[in-house]
Amino acid sequence: MNNPFRIGILGSGQGSNFMALADAVAAGKIPAQIALVLSDVEAAGILTHARHRQIPAQFIAPGPFRTKLDEAAERAFVAALQAAQVDLIVLAGFMRVLKGDFLRAFAGRIVNIHPSLLPCFPGLQSWKQALDHGVKVAGCTVHFVDAGVDSGAIIGQSAVPVLDNDTPETLHQRIHAAEHELYPRCVAALARREISVVGRRVIWRKS
Ligand code: GAR
Repeated sequence: MNNPFRIGILGSGQGSNFMALADAVAAGKIPAQIALVLSDVEAAGILTHARHRQIPAQFIAPGPFRTKLDEAAERAFVAALQAAQVDLIVLAGFMRVLKGDFLRAFAGRIVNIHPSLLPCFPGLQSWKQALDHGVKVAGCTVHFVDAGVDSGAIIGQSAVPVLDNDTPETLHQRIHAAEHELYPRCVAALARREISVVGRRVIWRKS
């Protein structure tokens, strides 16, 4: 691949979305290269999975805050991603909110997956929020990242039925499976530059 589209992936957890993306890249379904994986959690499964696949993977200590990076950590994340010359940053279970300098460094080039049909149930444990609310349809959303929490323009969504006997775990499992199909499809369209943004609306030029 000449000048491949370069992706940086950030995650804090087990990395099942990373694996779905890496599988799709390996299968030629996403015309891109995963240039770097970063985590704020030293023992995160996503780092182990990336290293098994010979993808550069790095832990960067997040600093003392629980929900955001401190300034030094933010600078280190930005520097690593710039050094890797990434075209797109893909958040795959990254559990910290990104702030001003990070967002400015990669304006319009950061996407996230969230386990609900946004704008319903932003924030944490959205599948549990969906069950508690009693909705009949849950799902997942891929969206651009802006300065709010789970509030950027929506790229794609996938619906998942809520069953009468669902527990938070069974519903989360089904949403996870939908994520593994939706995220590679959205990232492939971004890598093919088939996505354009008009105000809050994201237009797919081909599907
Ligand atoms: C996914 O369900 C993702 O939607 C969620 O974390 C999980 C990560 O799973 N992200 C958020 O809640 C972000 N607000 P993974 O590590 O197996 O990909």
